[in-house]
Amino acid sequence: MVVQTSPRAAYKISGRGASQIAASIEAGIADGRLAPGQALPPIRDLAAELAVNPNTVSAAYRLLRDRGAVETAGRRGTRVREQPATAPRNLRFPVPDDVKDLVAGNPDSRLLPELVFPRGISQRLYKGEAILPELLVAARARFVADAVPAEHVVLAFGAGDAIDRVLSAHLRTGDSVAVEDPGWGAVYHLLPAMGLTAVPVPIDAEGMTPQALAAALKRGVRAVIVTSRAQNPTGAAVTADRAEELRAVLAAHPDVLLIEDDHGADITPHFALNTLAGATTHWAHIRSLSKAYGPDLRCAVTAADATTAARVAGRLRLGAGWISQLIQDQVHRLWTDEQVEAQIADAARSYTERREALIAALGARGIAARGVSGINVWIPVPEEAMVVSGLLAAGWAVAPGSWFRVGTGPGVRITISNLALDEVEPLADAFAAVLDASGSDGVV
Ligand SMILES: Cc1ncc(COP(=O)(O)O)c(C=O)c1O
Repeated sequence: MVVQTSPRAAYKISGRGASQIAASIEAGIADGRLAPGQALPPIRDLAAELAVNPNTVSAAYRLLRDRGAVETAGRRGTRVREQPATAPRNLRFPVPDDVKDLVAGNPDSRLLPELVFPRGISQRLYKGEAILPELLVAARARFVADAVPAEHVVLAFGAGDAIDRVLSAHLRTGDSVAVEDPGWGAVYHLLPAMGLTAVPVPIDAEGMTPQALAAALKRGVRAVIVTSRAQNPTGAAVTADRAEELRAVLAAHPDVLLIEDDHGADITPHFALNTLAGATTHWAHIRSLSKAYGPDLRCAVTAADATTAARVAGRLRLGAGWISQLIQDQVHRLWTDEQVEAQIADAARSYTERREALIAALGARGIAARGVSGINVWIPVPEEAMVVSGLLAAGWAVAPGSWFRVGTGPGVRITISNLALDEVEPLADAFAAVLDASGSDGVV
């Protein structure tokens, strides 16, 4: 069947069996001819067109749903997911060359430490420890300094991968997971791709609110994902008081899996970690290297309870095998080199300065912005499209909040990691002008 995707592009779905039909739709999604949000034909129409039983089409749609490629929303029928799991792509829009890109959540590449690969490194063969002993020592020292139990440590290819692996170690299709709202878009897209359901939990500057977490637990969530510091997109950081309250809430649900994402650890040294690790029987505390040391390291170090660590390590061994020793060597060096440590501390100061400067400049114009830690600033706005397009026209690309929220009101995210201090005032002026033009005084 031909799906009219745009005036110039049409996509013909083909196939006789459910898996062929699903594969045909997946191919259309992968090459972009079936766009995110695109409605698929009603089951009966497609079945008639392909001369197959409607049950066959229904089974094809179910396969695609299970793979996280499409979603079914009652009367709205079946649609391609906004970020289909079968076509790896980030939610992005083209940023023209003369526009400042404050959308991508990248660190400032000038603030990343240099990677040094000495000449003549010996090759590792199929044997040896999954984790280098010296890296294990360095990791444990960091965790213990932050009061995270560090008996069991495992590696993964970044925080996203670690979350994926830890969830897979405990949850089953149909389970639900409490996630921050607003929260990291990647998690919002990962969960349905795993057959899991996200239960949004509102957050304030100190993280999930205890009442909202309690309500999600009451609804039967099997896991909770908490960002310790540098929360994306709001910059929230879990305070000591909040950690205590959340621990008390979790203590009543010891069977719930707790995942703590501390990707901001090294870029938020002024915020002590207030860990929730150990509040439940099964937990994982994930420390990504991406923001402070570089996303291409693709490495996250995770402390976990014995069962979780054994399951994650065992599964990794069967598939990927291990994280390359080349990377482990780098992580060890980056975590133990004093010069690097000083450089990362400078980077953290620089991010703080940029973030605080932007929040102050917006505040001076009556615009309330959030962000106590990390590289993102969240600004509630009356309407996202108007603000995003208005700023784009003025030379600034910011991310629409819809990428990061479920029940939270509209907002935009500005990533400050690449914002120069002398760009702060012009950006705040542009923001105020866009809100003025819309008849809003910035108060929402
Ligand atoms: C909340 C959060 N956690 C972790 C990461 C880093 O993920 P990874 O380690 O997979 O690069 C990001 C990156 O944007 C993030 O926003």
